[in-house]
Amino acid sequence: MERKLIELLNQALADEWLSYYCFWIGAKVMVGHMRDEIAKELEEMATEELKHAGILADKIIELGGTPVLTPKDWHKIANCSYEVPKDFSVKSILFQNIKSKQSAVDAYKELISFSKGKTSCNHESLANILEEEIEQKDYLINMVEHIAKKNSEKGLRI
Ligand SMILES: [Fe+2]
Repeated sequence: MERKLIELLNQALADEWLSYYCFWIGAKVMVGHMRDEIAKELEEMATEELKHAGILADKIIELGGTPVLTPKDWHKIANCSYEVPKDFSVKSILFQNIKSKQSAVDAYKELISFSKGKTSCNHESLANILEEEIEQKDYLINMVEHIAKKNSEKGLRI
């Protein structure tokens, strides 16, 4: 059981690193209206992903496992796919991050249902991460809606 849990935690850890990079690189390359304000938000979200990665790595070690040791394995084990940004518009970068968040939310729900009743400390900290993932996703969606509204007032398209 612990082995399976460690495996799932490592998958989530790979997701967090890919999500971190998705936010981080998105913030660097994005172009368009309000890019500076939005980039700042994405950078903050990237920092949260690093925090999540730290929690997961500590849990894995606590359970006697080894956190994924090389970035080469992130793609192999991750639940969420990482899409290379091709369109650097604010809209496209935000949509990409929303997709990544949705995938993380689904993966954490599965992980939580697996760990429920098995290890209390894992369950609680995973539930906290899931809550933050949902908050991030909702925040990104609100951001897209806010920009779309602002732009439509100005007769622009997001
Ligand atoms: Fe996360």
